[in-house]
Amino acid sequence: MRTAILGASGLVGRKMLSLLESCPWLNSDPALLTSPRSAGQEIEFRGRKLICREVSASAFHQIDLALFSAGGAASRTWAPVAKNAGCLVVDNSSAWRLDPQVPLVVPEINGFMINPKPGIIANPNCSTIQIVMAVAPLDQAVGVKECHVTTLQAVSGAGQKAVQELLDQTRDYPAIQTGTSAYPRTMAFNVLPAIGAKTEGGSYEEETKVVLEMRRIMDRGLDLHVSCTATRVPVMTGHSAAVRLVCAAATTPAQAVATLQNSPGVQVLADPHDFHTAREIAGSNDVFVSRVRQDPGCDRSLLMWVVADNLLKGAAWNAVQIATEIAHQIAADKQG
Ligand SMILES: NC(=O)c1ccc[n+]([C@@H]2O[C@H](COP(=O)([O-])OP(=O)(O)OC[C@H]3O[C@@H](n4cnc5c(N)ncnc54)[C@H](OP(=O)(O)O)[C@@H]3O)[C@@H](O)[C@H]2O)c1
Repeated sequence: MRTAILGASGLVGRKMLSLLESCPWLNSDPALLTSPRSAGQEIEFRGRKLICREVSASAFHQIDLALFSAGGAASRTWAPVAKNAGCLVVDNSSAWRLDPQVPLVVPEINGFMINPKPGIIANPNCSTIQIVMAVAPLDQAVGVKECHVTTLQAVSGAGQKAVQELLDQTRDYPAIQTGTSAYPRTMAFNVLPAIGAKTEGGSYEEETKVVLEMRRIMDRGLDLHVSCTATRVPVMTGHSAAVRLVCAAATTPAQAVATLQNSPGVQVLADPHDFHTAREIAGSNDVFVSRVRQDPGCDRSLLMWVVADNLLKGAAWNAVQIATEIAHQIAADKQG
């Protein structure tokens, strides 16, 4: 299958490339596409150096599958071009996630929506993916009525400039900076309860994404009450989320742990005092659930701590899982 990565020089694009190295279905070099800034840059793939090229309409001719990870503006421009050239796009940006014509997919939850025809498949927001990986199996098992989340999100979630800016600010401590380029306030040694643009009702974009995308992936409407406060913390990689669920009926932590132990892609700790941290799990494709306990005073309500690598399950791994399923479906169609 002929493949391309748009945004190959970015944090997520590089992770995608390294995951593709071990995909047996990929038997040719992917085309590496970027903005003019990184055109000409060399990136290693399977022991050889590939050269990044500036994205253009002709870049999608002869490409079957394109993994996009270049931001919403580039996706809005290039996804229709790629689709018209006969390409299937798996898009990591927020550009198409709420488009009713575009499937929004976490393979373990709604992988049945993956279709190998030319078009667009959207990868959800990084926080949404890890939360839904923990909540959807419980919804299937016992029914979930409410999900209230506070996220603590790593700076790599905002791209490579944000990572560099945290390193610079950390070196400059204790200087206070206001309105820096990657953050609304100083990030170093701080917590910022504001991710993305302002949205209605006093929320920020990241919070609205979690609410709307969760319902879409779980095929639920307003009957699933979701609330989110999204914060950025000075962690390099790995988003954490404190989650409170209200179930349809009384549910014990032991029931929830047993359900999650049988959920693909989830690792869960049964001891409620034990826990995972972002630093320890960075580099893993799985979602990690710990601190599962009863909300005191409510036998229908559970509390838990959910951690995942935002660059892997939150972005590149989820996209490569979708790409792998597409490759398998195309191979099966050819054989049949
Ligand atoms: N980071 C995460 O944890 C995460 C998780 C889920 C989703 N996402 C989404 O994934 C996308 C990429 O994130 P990232 O963290 O990898 O960002 P990043 O490190 O800033 O990388 C951005 C990449 O996009 C390319 N690019 C930017 N504008 C472009 C344009 N107009 N045309 C062509 N290429 C362009 C850049 O190329 P140059 O090098 O040439 O500038 C670079 O390769 C974003 O949409 C983000 O929302 C990220």
